[in-house]
Amino acid sequence: MHIIHTVEEFRAVRARLPSLAFVPTMGNLHEGHIALATQAQASSRHVAASIFVNRLQFGPNEDFDRYPRTLADDAGKLEAAGVEFLFAPDERVMYPQPQTYHVEPADAHVSILEGEFRSGHFRGVATVVMKLLNIVQPTHALFGKKDYQQLMVLRNMVREFAMPIEVVPGETVRASDGLALSSRNGYLTASERLEAPRLYDRLQWIRQAVLSGRTDYSALEDEAIRTLREHGWQPEYVRVCRQTDLQRARPGEADPLVVLAAARLGSTRLIDNLEI
Ligand code: PAJ
Repeated sequence: MHIIHTVEEFRAVRARLPSLAFVPTMGNLHEGHIALATQAQASSRHVAASIFVNRLQFGPNEDFDRYPRTLADDAGKLEAAGVEFLFAPDERVMYPQPQTYHVEPADAHVSILEGEFRSGHFRGVATVVMKLLNIVQPTHALFGKKDYQQLMVLRNMVREFAMPIEVVPGETVRASDGLALSSRNGYLTASERLEAPRLYDRLQWIRQAVLSGRTDYSALEDEAIRTLREHGWQPEYVRVCRQTDLQRARPGEADPLVVLAAARLGSTRLIDNLEI
């Protein structure tokens, strides 16, 4: 695997490839990231991943400083998964001077769910992903459904800016007890880790209830929030939404639905979702 640190070097490599599938990450890789890297090989013979912990998408009180940085380990995993190129820029490469131009996603897409609790987050994500896509110039870009709203925002960004890239979604990879894999799971204490699968459990419960015909979405959401609170969680939202634009589901509409949740367990913030 070629590890590339500069824009110039990446461009020189890219110019020789007919197609390229790209998996952007912030590192500290787990099986969810690796599944995307493996899936990428079905889109193109050539696959690149990136590792960059993007300051712009972290709020002032979030975990930018303690976010795990494990480049050597990550590189080994990507190589084993058959990734050909790793773009690993440092801050001076991505932000040689403070970024003063930004991609502003549609307000309707970022004033809800994650955006409600992480102001400016998707602006930071969209800005860095636009920049990475301009550097890497992939034909395909893979994003996990684990970050469902992020996938929607980036899909819309690529479409609205007519970027010549196919966005490919990847299914959420979970631990055997159902907990969605996440770099942030490493912050959980042993007892929190045992409790953590309850989030997915409540999503499955809501999914079953909706599939069996219930349309009182708010009551289902409230019930899940209550259960989480009883078990020591601080839920931020549990919401049944339309898959396409993540607006609230309304009874009687035929749109495909997804239930999304975010909750804190101790000092760790977990998110998850489940398509219905
Ligand atoms: P990061 O959290 O490192 O995730 C990188 C990619 O892996 C994202 O597309 C994410 O949705 C996917 N992913 C994470 N956990 C997953 C799981 N359990 N199963 C399947 N896919 C999973 O998302 C980011 O980084 C950043 O916001 C980024 C897009 C790189 C921009 O900085």
